[in-house]
Amino acid sequence: KQTDNQLIIDAGQKQFGATTCRSCGMLYSTDSPEDNFQHTQFHQRFLDTIKFVGWKKERVVAEFWDGKIILVLPDDPKYATKKAEDVRRIADSELGFQQITLSSPSSAKTYLFVNSDRMVVGCLVAENIRQAFRVLEQQEKPKDMNKEDFMEHHRAWCCSTLPEKAICGVSRIWVFSLMRRKGIATRLLETVRTTFMYGSHLTKKEIAFSDPTPEGKLFATKYCET
Ligand code: ACO
Ligand code: ZN
Repeated sequence: KQTDNQLIIDAGQKQFGATTCRSCGMLYSTDSPEDNFQHTQFHQRFLDTIKFVGWKKERVVAEFWDGKIILVLPDDPKYATKKAEDVRRIADSELGFQQITLSSPSSAKTYLFVNSDRMVVGCLVAENIRQAFRVLEQQEKPKDMNKEDFMEHHRAWCCSTLPEKAICGVSRIWVFSLMRRKGIATRLLETVRTTFMYGSHLTKKEIAFSDPTPEGKLFATKYCET
């Protein structure tokens, strides 16, 4: 049964031809058979991947009213490391990473945010590092450069050449598109700071983001200031 409001919303979406699936978050055109097919392909696989059935042993490192954070270590049982890897793959494909390249897979710690609907809606991979290069102030985009060129360049020369001491490198941080701006990434990072190194609370400076995306940079800038 549809309400009047629903009809208006649907009509609005039809006009643009695009709709966002309310379960998997995929943006696609309902008018395009190809898009519909791709959505059907993606939808169930995605939901299966982020589904969290619960484990015999869960390393719960933080609990909130709307979910909990579980830490997965490389030597954990297969069901745990497999889930961590599958979710990381989703993040990677969204980040455009070609293959899974962890700088030190044996030390990588994966933090999963599981919400009250039993879905993994956030993922953070943290690794041991010794030094990092600070990201420098954003430069103005030269007029004759398109966005892609700029990003390429920017990634190449936005970092200082002076290494600084850091302890924890965040190589991936991802939050399910429909669950963003609810502080999930912030809470993942806070939890990393208190649990990454046994017995010590890391400062924000001791955590480094590797090769952040524009979205990641917006988040990191905000996070590091506050
Ligand atoms: N635009 C502007 N500001 C932002 C954005 C954004 N897209 N995302 C976060 N912020 C800032 C805001 O100030 C926000 O506070 P507010 O909501 O009160 O205004 C603050 O950061 C905290 O945001 P969170 O809610 O904690 O962040 P969220 O859970 O939405 O996750 C993330 C942010 C991880 C960047 C998410 O948008 C995402 O998964 N994006 C796609 C993947 C990606 O780009 N990941 C970063 C790659 S870099 C790396 O992995 C090292
Ligand atoms: Zn869907």
